[in-house]
Amino acid sequence: MKATAIAPANIAFIKYWGKADTKLRLPVNSSVSMNLGSCTTTTTVEFRQELKKDEISCLKEDFSFKEKQRIRTHLDLIRCKAGLMCFASVLTTNNFPGSSGVASSASGFAALSVAAVSALNLKLSEKELTVLARLGSGSACRSIPDGFVEWVKGDGSGSSYAYSLYPPGYWDLCDLLVIVDSRTKKVSTTKGMETVRTSPLLNKRLLAIPDRMKRLKDAMAKKDLRSLGEVIEEDCLDMHAVMQSQTPPLYYRNETTKRIMEAVVGWRNEGIPVYFTIDAGPNVHLIFEGKDKDRILHALNKIKGVENIILNIPASGARLINEDLF
Ligand code: PMV
Repeated sequence: MKATAIAPANIAFIKYWGKADTKLRLPVNSSVSMNLGSCTTTTTVEFRQELKKDEISCLKEDFSFKEKQRIRTHLDLIRCKAGLMCFASVLTTNNFPGSSGVASSASGFAALSVAAVSALNLKLSEKELTVLARLGSGSACRSIPDGFVEWVKGDGSGSSYAYSLYPPGYWDLCDLLVIVDSRTKKVSTTKGMETVRTSPLLNKRLLAIPDRMKRLKDAMAKKDLRSLGEVIEEDCLDMHAVMQSQTPPLYYRNETTKRIMEAVVGWRNEGIPVYFTIDAGPNVHLIFEGKDKDRILHALNKIKGVENIILNIPASGARLINEDLF
């Protein structure tokens, strides 16, 4: 009745922003991401008959009441699948600093799903696991399969799932996470997405996505970094245009974010092939090929306002491990 899983966070090349169904966490568009090898969550789940309630804790940080409630709701779903009414002890830890500004919900709900399903001896396929993880946190479904992953938007719960486009070793891409503000973001993604339909730019975004997905997949098939990078930046800027035109507007970027975005364009003009993407926060992800790592680290040294950096390479998805946390 006990199992432990590890799962990576992921960075989206084409972003998920907006839900078609809030409860089922169905997205308004498909998305594609890469698993981040240096940003993982490990979670141990043990179901025990004698427990009177779920005991949920995190090794290095404290979960808020709301976070614990969301984990409990997810455990209820898994208990219901197993037809079992028994509470659990859950202990979790992130290998990236809690103050890194990295959202741990993707790696967190992926690890929780895999560990809880195994602890209850439920037999789910990878596709079913992605559907389950999605119900905890949308982007968590992309942390289940290996490497480079597509989340198909689908038109119902069973058809909104994720699968691996390519294994981690397919392409020597790096993601350098540049932390410029380690505080928790002001507006959570859940809250931010609630008002997505107030943006007059949402429909334009949704119309553009199918062609953008095609260009992204073509670029990945050809390992064409330039075309890939152009699509990544285009989609990032498009998502932020939607965010900023929502009511109330969401401004996630700060002055250092903008300085880095400008610097990236300058570095490209100097011949360094590097592209940026930004999620719902001010931190910047730089995407490039491994051979350019040293040049990029050197160039980044000159930028003011960088608090920390985390270098990621493409990683496997969520999996069971033998070392329990308790
Ligand atoms: O699943 P959530 O609530 O963590 O939403 C993730 C949203 C973005 O990070 C902004 C984009 C994405 O696709 O990861």
